[in-house]
Amino acid sequence: MGLIYRRAAEADKPAMLALAAAIDPDDYLPWVIDGYLKERPGGFYVTEGEDGRLLALASITFIRPGQAFLRAMRVHPEAQGHGVGTEFTRFQVEEAERLGARAVRLLTAESNLAVRRLAGEKLGFRLRGRWSTWWESLSPTLPADGRPAHVRAATADEAEAVDAIFRESQARCACPGVFADSEELAEMFAFDPDPAARPLDEAVAAGHVLVHDGDGPGRGRGPDGLAIVTPSTDWDNGPSLSVTYMWGGPPARLDFLRHLAGEVRSARVRGIQLSLPADQTEALESLEVAWHPEDRRPWYGRLYEKIFGGEVS
Ligand SMILES: CC(C)(COP(=O)(O)OP(=O)(O)OC[C@H]1O[C@@H](n2cnc3c(N)ncnc32)[C@H](O)[C@@H]1OP(=O)(O)O)[C@@H](O)C(=O)NCCC(=O)NCCS
Repeated sequence: MGLIYRRAAEADKPAMLALAAAIDPDDYLPWVIDGYLKERPGGFYVTEGEDGRLLALASITFIRPGQAFLRAMRVHPEAQGHGVGTEFTRFQVEEAERLGARAVRLLTAESNLAVRRLAGEKLGFRLRGRWSTWWESLSPTLPADGRPAHVRAATADEAEAVDAIFRESQARCACPGVFADSEELAEMFAFDPDPAARPLDEAVAAGHVLVHDGDGPGRGRGPDGLAIVTPSTDWDNGPSLSVTYMWGGPPARLDFLRHLAGEVRSARVRGIQLSLPADQTEALESLEVAWHPEDRRPWYGRLYEKIFGGEVS
């Protein structure tokens, strides 16, 4: 296609913002563009048509040394569908590698068929996993029967048992990383599993791991579900809880939901930000409770990666 790519400069800002607004007037770009423009290595890149008008923009960031993340690609609406996005992504991959990347990753909405096609099929990215996130202010349809007795914070002396449940759940889950709140999805991406590490220990010590004590046939054999719930502050809503993992059978999940609804009703928090592996959200959706009203559907995303020459450390 013969496009020429260059690093964007401060002077490109108005045209970049105009291009983004032409696609989506509520684009988040105005909030982040100054930071993205200054980043090194990486930063913002642009490409222009023969008439000098801006055709597309995209950013590269390094989450850790050697681990690049591609983000904020925008192709002018009139130029979409002609291969610009594919070519620009190919350039980004080469540029990231030139800048020292050993892994290049990106996150896109499940509904973004163009990015799924260009990354997952045309440019050889591997689908690392699916993720989901949404905000829940209140769950009016959940039973108002107080906190379920089966849900409690895990204690430090249970750290080993918690770790065992966590590993079991990871083995059965298409989880791209460990756990991350919705602001940190890119960081989660750069997580490298260390078989010796016990990533939950800190959360257990802080009292952020909830466990569910089963009362079925396995009663007495220890917890049968776990959820990671951290106090946080939502930009729009103030005090909230960030739920980054929820695993267990339907009774455990239902009790976790009741517990969280109780937290919201207690008015200590305004709502709950859920950021979960997609299959954990799908398991919640399949429960026989209307957990979220029709107009608040989870956002599902796909995480893609390309590793150059072996292991990433
Ligand atoms: C997503 C985007 C960057 C893709 O750029 P583009 O220049 O239109 O993409 P391409 O022309 O290279 O198309 C890539 C492939 O996806 C296919 N494709 C494009 N739109 C599609 C759609 N709506 N449904 C299914 N496939 C689609 C193309 O046919 C092409 O595959 P092909 O070569 O086999 O025909 C561009 O559409 C865009 O700016 N969208 C809005 C912002 C956005 O979503 N950014 C990405 C955030 S992760």
